[in-house]
Amino acid sequence: MRMYDIIRKKRDGMELKREEIYFVVQKYTAGEIPDYQMSAFLMAVYFQGMNERETYDLTMAMLESGERLDLSSLKGVKLDKHSSGGVGDKISFVVLPIVASFGVKVAKMSGRGLGHTGGTIDKLESIPGMKTSLKKEEFLRIVDEVGFSIVSQTENLAPADKKIYALRDATATVENLSLIASSIVSKKLAAGADAILFDVKVGRGAFMKNLQQAEALARLMIDIIKRSGRKAKAVISNMDQPLGRMVGNSLEVIEAIECLKGNGPTDVMKLSYVIVKEMLDLAGIKVTEDDIERMVCSGKPLMLFKKFIEYQGGDPKVVDEPDRLPVSERIIDLKAERAGYIVQLDAEAIGRACVMLGGGRTKKEDDIDHSVGIELVKKVSDWVNAGDVIARLYYSNKSDLMTALELVKSAYEFSERSSEIPPVVLEVIE
Ligand code: URA
Repeated sequence: MRMYDIIRKKRDGMELKREEIYFVVQKYTAGEIPDYQMSAFLMAVYFQGMNERETYDLTMAMLESGERLDLSSLKGVKLDKHSSGGVGDKISFVVLPIVASFGVKVAKMSGRGLGHTGGTIDKLESIPGMKTSLKKEEFLRIVDEVGFSIVSQTENLAPADKKIYALRDATATVENLSLIASSIVSKKLAAGADAILFDVKVGRGAFMKNLQQAEALARLMIDIIKRSGRKAKAVISNMDQPLGRMVGNSLEVIEAIECLKGNGPTDVMKLSYVIVKEMLDLAGIKVTEDDIERMVCSGKPLMLFKKFIEYQGGDPKVVDEPDRLPVSERIIDLKAERAGYIVQLDAEAIGRACVMLGGGRTKKEDDIDHSVGIELVKKVSDWVNAGDVIARLYYSNKSDLMTALELVKSAYEFSERSSEIPPVVLEVIE
């Protein structure tokens, strides 16, 4: 087999055999195929696409390039959740303790933020003392005793994806459905859960800019998971405007704690409840949104969140005293220059503004500041008078405050005519 022939075959739009796909992944991971040939191959896939069978084989080849976590020592169905990335997305902190309160275990590996979207691990690390890198035995013990755990992804899960993703990033070949689906699913399968819930975001602040693309990605990921003998569902959710009112690492933890106390913003509560319902359904448990609300009111999810923080070395007092979390005291209010209804609040611009404040990274090596962020005082469908505060920026002496302010200002669009609150959950795909 020669890489040259495989590139030519895909370039000409032909279907690749399983052995050919495995050859590409194994030889590239082993350093036996040079980057220039792999780049040409990825570009051929980008233009010609792959069918579902090829995408499945690509996923399996990447999965088999590394270790797989064995969750079989844990009793019952083990679940996982994946979000395709958004702005203000603190949903895992709300959902996992609720699912665990119903007796279903969730073992979650997450990533750090890159670009305008935040990362779950960065948010968790805003809790003083919190450890996100744990030995496998410790991770499993916490899932067993608390009901859930969130740790950062280890290097040896799907190493082929790591190498291929870095090349895709540098060769403008990220945005292909088969490449995205195989990349996400290989890592999720390696993490060992029996069933996975995908939260596929769509809109201005998301990877997928329209509903058709998001549905296609969701269906492809579900197809791969089912072929591999596990279960999956997807929730398609709106990412035109940020989720909730807080964007930034510790600000989002504070908002998630409010949600677990039953006082969260409507959009975060709604999306969390739908995701909890669908995750429990994957575990064979049927609940209504009223059942979930009653569970939140019982205080058990909040108690489990506290226990999770304590087990991972963090300060559990943050739950009762959120001002123990680092939040900058340097605050500037952004005021409306005119009266009107807010009809747009561009999630991507808000995410970029948060990066400018120091709350996100533009390069993998960048340090982040957990204490900065943006509070969205007004959101889509709110009426404002000229001079009303629409957003509050928490900044530091290292922030690029002027750029951040400009970005937040540009994110808001006003009109004389009111606009509806956009639905946060667009679709559930089985
Ligand atoms: N996230 C991933 O893990 N991989 C992709 O290709 C895109 C988003």
